[in-house]
Amino acid sequence: MPPRKIIIDTDPGQDDAVAILLALACPDELEVLGLTCVAGNVPLDLTSKNARIVCELAGRTDVKVFAGCDRPLGRELVTAEHVHGKTGLDGPNLPDPTMPLAEGHAVDFIIEQLREYAPGTITLCPLGPLTNIATALQKAPDIARRVAKIVLMGGGYFEGGNITPTAEFNIYVDPQAADIVFKSGIPIVVMPLDVTHKALVTKPRNDAFRALNTPVGIAVAQMTDFFERFDKEKYGSAGAPLHDPCVTAYLLKPELFTGRHINVEIEVQSELTMGMTVADWWGVTDREPNATFIGDLDADGFFDLLTERLGRL
Ligand code: RIB
Ligand code: CA
Repeated sequence: MPPRKIIIDTDPGQDDAVAILLALACPDELEVLGLTCVAGNVPLDLTSKNARIVCELAGRTDVKVFAGCDRPLGRELVTAEHVHGKTGLDGPNLPDPTMPLAEGHAVDFIIEQLREYAPGTITLCPLGPLTNIATALQKAPDIARRVAKIVLMGGGYFEGGNITPTAEFNIYVDPQAADIVFKSGIPIVVMPLDVTHKALVTKPRNDAFRALNTPVGIAVAQMTDFFERFDKEKYGSAGAPLHDPCVTAYLLKPELFTGRHINVEIEVQSELTMGMTVADWWGVTDREPNATFIGDLDADGFFDLLTERLGRL
């Protein structure tokens, strides 16, 4: 079976970094056509720098890294330095990248790749605000039917929000973009806080990263050591939630995850609930299902997969 072709759209972010490392550790299963960076956790100049830092950490300077949209479609950019630190990749002390950004805009790269390959070939993996994806769909509506699947991290239902009482960060930053994506008709798998808050880097799991005793293993342990503070203080969590790596792990072993195919709509009117993913988990409306909304995972299986694969880098 040839590797699945994917484009990772990302706002690194320590958890994005782990998701990217996991993908790059599995070249027989995942062919990363490129990383497309978006403003989110930190501004675009930092997310596009951090993505290259991660590629160099993985020894993969061959990966194309594109800069994309530097602000949401219709709102001021909200960032998350309070979670990820000033650089967006606080924790390990990694060298600045030497690899250059790829020529061209991330949105044009997404469009070009989808038009180059046969329909149903490429899976899009958004790990940040959906600005790049929505902009590509607006600029080239024909690509919607060419996307195999979108597997994204975002939203929440039982868990509520992590940036407001009702909204998760990725969706909150660009709700208009999320609305476009969720109404695109493209098959979507959603990794909401409901599942990512169960993927916690407890101390034994962090110790297992460190015990790899490789630059990647140690850096991942340092990253998760750093970004666990926010969730430990807010939720009393047992460790950092590995939000974005749930996307990559789903591509590798979907059987680790369970969810429901339901209707999910995005709040784009009320400031009170702006960016809320209104998930019809209980099927109380007659709205058409448009997304597979993941609610649970085999956490031990997830961390076994992650640690074993990271050990390959
Ligand atoms: O709410 C968590 C999400 O927002 C993750 O993708 C994290 O990296 C940030 O982008
Ligand atoms: Ca992210």
